[in-house]
Amino acid sequence: MFVRRVGPWQIKIQVEPVLYSQAELTRTYEQVAGLWHTGLTWAGYQEAYRSAFEQLVQLGWFKHIASGERILDCGIGSGAFSQAFLRVLDRNLQLHGVDLSSQMLEQTEEKLTQSAHLSRQDAGHLAYPMASFGAVLSAHMLEHFEQPLSGIQEMVRVLRPGGVLVLSFTRRSPVSAAMSAFWRNRSFTSADMLDWLRQAGLSDRYVLSYALGSTRWVSLCVVGRKP
Ligand SMILES: C[S@@+](CC[C@H](N)C(=O)[O-])C[C@H]1O[C@@H](n2cnc3c(N)ncnc32)[C@H](O)[C@@H]1O
Repeated sequence: MFVRRVGPWQIKIQVEPVLYSQAELTRTYEQVAGLWHTGLTWAGYQEAYRSAFEQLVQLGWFKHIASGERILDCGIGSGAFSQAFLRVLDRNLQLHGVDLSSQMLEQTEEKLTQSAHLSRQDAGHLAYPMASFGAVLSAHMLEHFEQPLSGIQEMVRVLRPGGVLVLSFTRRSPVSAAMSAFWRNRSFTSADMLDWLRQAGLSDRYVLSYALGSTRWVSLCVVGRKP
């Protein structure tokens, strides 16, 4: 952000990408779906997601999740985030995943090692009743939302009391600014995210840094609990 004081005034200029419309976004992800998982693995995200969930387990974030509970991954892509979660938790959980791109959902279907309920849905208007899930996960989807807070509020709506929201997101950095030329994705600071989690009514808010490779420069993770 450019900030300049001029006499009694403060001028702030923030450069934000022009977001893709939902149709453009879907088309873009349909085109890259076949290569998405390879790219993700190459960039170190499989390892980074696993390590983040291991740390969150150690910190006691998922003690409340009982065997048989339902969890939701919004913008599931090829399924890497929720797969890492399920592997680390090693409990018998029912996975639900939503995405705008049917090609991405096909990728998830191919890669999942367990059955899942996958559907083509806009995560901004989820077709689930309130308090349906013990955990809601989402990695790098809110970057495409005009109003990230309303996306978070929708995910919190379907979370049961005591449930946990886990978000992985693009952090604001020169690297993410360069990436947004193609993806037209937004990036956020941890302060933005913590404030949105607070406004969405979550308690025990926590930021986790990725420790591995390039992921540490590009992404961050936040968690919060629904009281
Ligand atoms: C950057 S990819 C991340 C995929 C996956 N979560 C991962 O970590 O690899 C963003 C995904 O969110 C999906 N997406 C974007 N906006 C969405 C929305 N409003 N509702 C559902 N899915 C959405 C895209 O189709 C894409 O698959």
